[in-house]
Amino acid sequence: MADGVRRAVPSPLKARVAAAMSPAGLSRLLLRTFPSGIPAHGAHFLLDDPVVPPSVPGRIVLHSYESAEIRMIKRHLRADLDVVELGSSLGVTSVLVGRRLDPHRRLICVEANAALHPVLAANLRRNGLDRTEIVGRAISYDGPEVGLRLGRGSSDTRLAGPGDPDGSPVRTTTLGELLDRFAIDRYALVCDIEGAELAIIEQDGDALARCQQLLIELHDTVDAGGRPVLARDLRERLLLAGFRLQDEHGNVAVFDRAATTAPAPRPAGTPDAIVRSFFRRLPEGTLLNLGAGSTGCSEGRRVAVGVDIDPAFRPDGLGASADAAALPFRDAAFDGALLKDVIEHVADPIGVAAEVARVCRPDAHILVTTPRAVARAVWADPTHVRGFTARALVTVLDKAGWEAIGPPRRIGGLPGAGRLGLEPHLERLMAIPGLGHWYGTNWIVEAKLRRP
Ligand SMILES: C[S@@+](CC[C@H](N)C(=O)[O-])C[C@H]1O[C@@H](n2cnc3c(N)ncnc32)[C@H](O)[C@@H]1O
Repeated sequence: MADGVRRAVPSPLKARVAAAMSPAGLSRLLLRTFPSGIPAHGAHFLLDDPVVPPSVPGRIVLHSYESAEIRMIKRHLRADLDVVELGSSLGVTSVLVGRRLDPHRRLICVEANAALHPVLAANLRRNGLDRTEIVGRAISYDGPEVGLRLGRGSSDTRLAGPGDPDGSPVRTTTLGELLDRFAIDRYALVCDIEGAELAIIEQDGDALARCQQLLIELHDTVDAGGRPVLARDLRERLLLAGFRLQDEHGNVAVFDRAATTAPAPRPAGTPDAIVRSFFRRLPEGTLLNLGAGSTGCSEGRRVAVGVDIDPAFRPDGLGASADAAALPFRDAAFDGALLKDVIEHVADPIGVAAEVARVCRPDAHILVTTPRAVARAVWADPTHVRGFTARALVTVLDKAGWEAIGPPRRIGGLPGAGRLGLEPHLERLMAIPGLGHWYGTNWIVEAKLRRP
């Protein structure tokens, strides 16, 4: 060259090769070469439609499109369960899910953006999955219709924020409604819905409790009050809900359930009304229900997480089977706890109360009930280890870092109390000397966590 410098001027041929090798260039080549379906992942995809972003066909072939989710489907998805897929988009993951399932298993594809349905349906048909149901609804718990913010083509469709002028109206459904509509009992859930998963975790505990395997892409989002909720918080909430992590890559995770969570029958006469009234005395937030037995009591902004050592324990809502002495939760995970009739069952009540302190946030409140040291109360149940004097109970709490709010008071069952609607007043009735002495067989005490 005249000035002795070699300039890196791309030749027209090089530019054409580079363009062809980019995902968009590769896409054009693939669409031209495979008009009846681009082969990838052992299936064929029909993607010649304006709703398909230009790079997607190339990325599917290069395995960079939804790669973590596809890897998890191939590695882990069970074949023996019906699958509900939320956020089916173009049907790429739907096809891979559908092709894994045992022949009699059903796949329900939920996609809120109706513009994607023709491509989704074509891909299902192209891969022999014609009988798959497509549901054109948004998952939401905020009324019959919500605004949907449509991204460019298939990418980035999400629920619009309140008052968002760009939201297109779309009808809603809930996970529970889908299970009812398709008569599904136990199922696997494949979920990629841009943060709307928070509402399912918060508001559809019963439907989630029936989910045996969950393959989910978790997203940072905000709650109804506009507070940020990170993907890692959602992961934690799922663990609290009794899911067990099988595998994860970035924000894509696969959970299953411990085999021990088969439904437990609710014993007749379970005093739900009492447990509920106790829960209402605790702060709003996430509350531990220790030794939950069969009682589940989430209500409004109080989300109860049940824990019981019984291996057959099936939380009525969120929960896990675990020993109170070693709770499977991170520090400060709870805003309060109910220990109703449980510490008399454990060998080390101070250790258990300290473990509850560990998983509660500073300032948390707990409510404890337990039998008084009265033989007929303590030994009526052969699984009791001990009863408590008022002093012993306060000492247990104190040594574990709790400060009792007032002295323990008597509480107990009164014949006919349920029928007469007296349950909320039992504590006051037991303050009547004769009545309390005979029927007030238990203590009730509230305590708050001492600041470190
Ligand atoms: C008397 S029941 C109370 C059930 C429920 N709290 C209620 O009052 O309706 C005691 C419960 O504590 C559970 N439990 C006993 N020891 C436990 C431990 N170490 N960890 C967790 N749960 C335990 C039992 O399995 C049982 O379900």
